[in-house]
Amino acid sequence: MKFNCELKKVVDDSYDIEIGHSLQDTLVEDLKNCLVGKIKKIVVITDSKVADLYGMDIFKRIDEAGFTADIIIFPEGEKSKTREMKECIEDALLDKECRRDCALIAVGGGVVTDLAGFVAGTFARGVPFINYATTLLAAADASVGGKTAVDTPLATNLIGLFYQPKKVYIDIDTWKTLPKEQISGGLAETIKHGCLGDRELFEYLEKNVEKIFEGDVEACEYIAERNCSVKYKVVMKDEKESGLREVLNLGHTVGRAIETVSDYRLYHGEAVAIGMVAQARLGQKYGFISEENVQRVENLIARAGLPTAVPDYIDKSELVKKLYTDKKVRDGKLRFVFQKEIGDVMQFGDNNYAKEIAEDEIAQIIEGM
Ligand code: GLY
Repeated sequence: MKFNCELKKVVDDSYDIEIGHSLQDTLVEDLKNCLVGKIKKIVVITDSKVADLYGMDIFKRIDEAGFTADIIIFPEGEKSKTREMKECIEDALLDKECRRDCALIAVGGGVVTDLAGFVAGTFARGVPFINYATTLLAAADASVGGKTAVDTPLATNLIGLFYQPKKVYIDIDTWKTLPKEQISGGLAETIKHGCLGDRELFEYLEKNVEKIFEGDVEACEYIAERNCSVKYKVVMKDEKESGLREVLNLGHTVGRAIETVSDYRLYHGEAVAIGMVAQARLGQKYGFISEENVQRVENLIARAGLPTAVPDYIDKSELVKKLYTDKKVRDGKLRFVFQKEIGDVMQFGDNNYAKEIAEDEIAQIIEGM
């Protein structure tokens, strides 16, 4: 006997991304207006650094608004993005008697939004969550698009799920408290977006990148809006990365590998910057990008305070081996996304945006960096 369990789905996971200044009140108003339905138990998940700056404040505001609010704080840094930390947060939620009746609010940068989103996606088989992004990196990339994950000793982001938030708040005022290297890290993803899909954004950065460090409001608003626009246009077409979404991995094949090999001495954005240079130089060999444009990419990365070379402490042969942990690897073959000049990406067939690369081709590029 055989049954067909028909489970065709029409799902509307649409959500708003609100970009603005000091959006804490907006968040509370949205909760009052049923952003997470009838749920009254709201748990803020944040890290030890963001807790003092924004997490506690948001928790108190939610509590004062009449919700049953709670807060879970974990140690800041990429090294917290682990299966073990996910378990700690889940245990804390269970201790607080949360079941399917709670919603989570991730307040912080990419580590917080990736980790809290993953917890939300599996806790009680899925509870609603909201991202309140407090870094440029989270605003540019991590908080939007529904990718959630933890790292493992083997590689970053290998364990996770696609799980969309109910809303994303991008609070530009929070960038004022970011150290310079965190601004640089977010600029790496911003430059990536310019390279792969927004020539105007790239050219704007060439003229104005220093303004972002100065906290120029107009410049910050501009890049926040353009980052989201590049990203959501891709995610809307290919949420689960069956093809097109791979373009958002530009620079990440070498980037993720070097981040792990550096044992997180390199921040994600710094690692991506090095990966961007690697794909540009390899792309030049294939004729995908001119030497002049490769130089423009490298110059902009350097002006954003990001590295363009592989640091001396990195073992380059270990780095090449680590490339095979990339999720784009297919049948044991490395696959790279390449920018096409500036503002576009290469396509290598129907719905295929990544090219198979022989190991020695990329090894040569890395050797020369
Ligand atoms: N960070 C790449 C993506 O969201 O697909």
